[in-house]
Amino acid sequence: MKRMMAGGWSRVLLAVVATAVACAFFGVTVGQDQGPVSEICLGCICEAVSNCNRSLGCNGDVCGLFRITWAYWADAGKPVIAQDNPDAEGAYARCVTEPFCAASTVQGYMRKFGKDCNGDGVVNCFDYAAIHRLGGYGCSGALEYNYQNKFMNCQRQVQELAGRK
Ligand SMILES: *[C@@H]1O[C@H](CO)[C@@H](O)[C@H](O)[C@H]1NC(C)=O
Repeated sequence: MKRMMAGGWSRVLLAVVATAVACAFFGVTVGQDQGPVSEICLGCICEAVSNCNRSLGCNGDVCGLFRITWAYWADAGKPVIAQDNPDAEGAYARCVTEPFCAASTVQGYMRKFGKDCNGDGVVNCFDYAAIHRLGGYGCSGALEYNYQNKFMNCQRQVQELAGRK
């Protein structure tokens, strides 16, 4: 691992945070259908939108740890929890407030809308984070500071932990 500016405690803290981010998501998504978005990337997106708070219900027009709207869920192909029916009343909220199903919703959405938003020649987690926040059609726009900042910190911590960069 490359030596960073951080001294002893900060390094420990960073490692703890990065591990927590990874675990928060690894724990949740194991066994889920693979989509284009890595588990680490899902972890950083939920970290940026909700601190990966799995107890979040619905608030206004968004629900769950990814704060997903009905339209996003519909675009994602209306995934449902086991034994549920996409046309049943409440199927949306039951899915997106359940971490596995919420992650499948993000995968479904990115399968449909995944693209190179920032024109850097690759489709990566930065693009997925932008699409998650700005939608499939507006993803080259500016991200809100707080969202971008939390996302970038998460990515950096994960990369440091992995010993890359
Ligand atoms: C998670 O969300 C719930 C419901 O809004 C809230 O009561 C709780 O304090 C949050 N937990 C954290 C760690 O932010």
